[in-house]
Amino acid sequence: MNAIPGRAAFDVSRVRADFPILNQTVRGKKLVFLDSGASAQKPRVVIDAMRDAMEMQYANVHRGAHWMSERTTEAFEAARDSAARLMNASSRDQIVFTRNSTEAMNLVAHSYGRGVMKPGQAVVISEMEHHSNIVPWQLLRDSHGIELRVARVTDAGELDMEQLERLLADGKVGLVSITHMSNVLGTYTPAERIIQIAHAHGAKVLLDGSQAIVHRRVDVAALDVDFYAWTGHKLYGPTGIGVLYGKAELLEAMPPFMGGGDMISSVTFERSTWARVPHKFEAGTPAILEGIGLDAAIHYVEGIGYEAIAAHEQVLTEHALAKLATIDGLHILGRAQDRGGVISFTLDGAHAHDVATLLDQSGIAVRAGHHCAEPLMHRFGVDSTARATFGVYTTAGEIDFLAETLGRIKAFFA
Ligand code: ALA
Repeated sequence: MNAIPGRAAFDVSRVRADFPILNQTVRGKKLVFLDSGASAQKPRVVIDAMRDAMEMQYANVHRGAHWMSERTTEAFEAARDSAARLMNASSRDQIVFTRNSTEAMNLVAHSYGRGVMKPGQAVVISEMEHHSNIVPWQLLRDSHGIELRVARVTDAGELDMEQLERLLADGKVGLVSITHMSNVLGTYTPAERIIQIAHAHGAKVLLDGSQAIVHRRVDVAALDVDFYAWTGHKLYGPTGIGVLYGKAELLEAMPPFMGGGDMISSVTFERSTWARVPHKFEAGTPAILEGIGLDAAIHYVEGIGYEAIAAHEQVLTEHALAKLATIDGLHILGRAQDRGGVISFTLDGAHAHDVATLLDQSGIAVRAGHHCAEPLMHRFGVDSTARATFGVYTTAGEIDFLAETLGRIKAFFA
């Protein structure tokens, strides 16, 4: 489990030392964690930041006149600056904190969908969406008379861009909501092109960046994307905090998502007025400790650098695809040109859950099931797959061990 040969700039063994959880055995086996796409492990700096806050500096934010509240507010709000910097947002006010990406997308469906879009307009999603980028739009369709259109995915696991453009041709589409990286296929979608085409047809674009932002630099200004959603826990931060980036004029035009404390300017029984953006969208006590942890996670990722992260992942992905291709009867879903460290596969004669259980017996953690993307499973004619996903701490040796173990499992089922 060494560093990838020839990669002096990125020392994976040093990165691994930052993650206390990786340094353990599971039922006598070394832990091989290949489930970071579901939720990534946390570096010590994140754990320490959250523990230090609880031990030394904790109070509610945006409320107290006392110094502890002021200090905690500064620490929490630093995460908004960091999230803006990470994505190259022009203003920290374009960063709305949510619980996770799911809530971020529900916020857009609710506030932009119901508050700005008009019945008769359409939303375009794709066949490779996570349920969190399908169900909110079905709810919007059923409550608000919005049509839902679905862009096709090719056998290679790429978006059918010609068909996507045809879906936009009548000018009725108000929003295109597409993943930036599939959580099943590992495909990076052509975000720049999607945005250009959508804008040319008068539609806004929401990208689900839950997977992509873990692996690649995201520049919302260069992309000119309208909304971008992601979650902290996949980016080596805590659960319970997600981010929605939105263009200022869109956030201003949108009504609130939830009502409560912190999102108002004034309240009487007759009417209430709203706090300025982004607080208008952040009702109630926010995820304070999680914000502090997210800030530490963003600094950690910036410390490694996206160039190193992306290069590491590319080497690992190519290595894994080559290794897994040698296993007879193993089928990888998708073969997109532009893909990253998310590999879903089936093994002839073995159910995905059995494969995952047998891998687990060797200490290898993968996810099995439909990966919250049932329509994509149907598209590829399977009901489930096993899925290995990589993080900054994944090694080529772990992938070799995965392939060797899958070879043994294949022999067992044969
Ligand atoms: N969305 C996460 C995954 O793909 C949970 O596993």
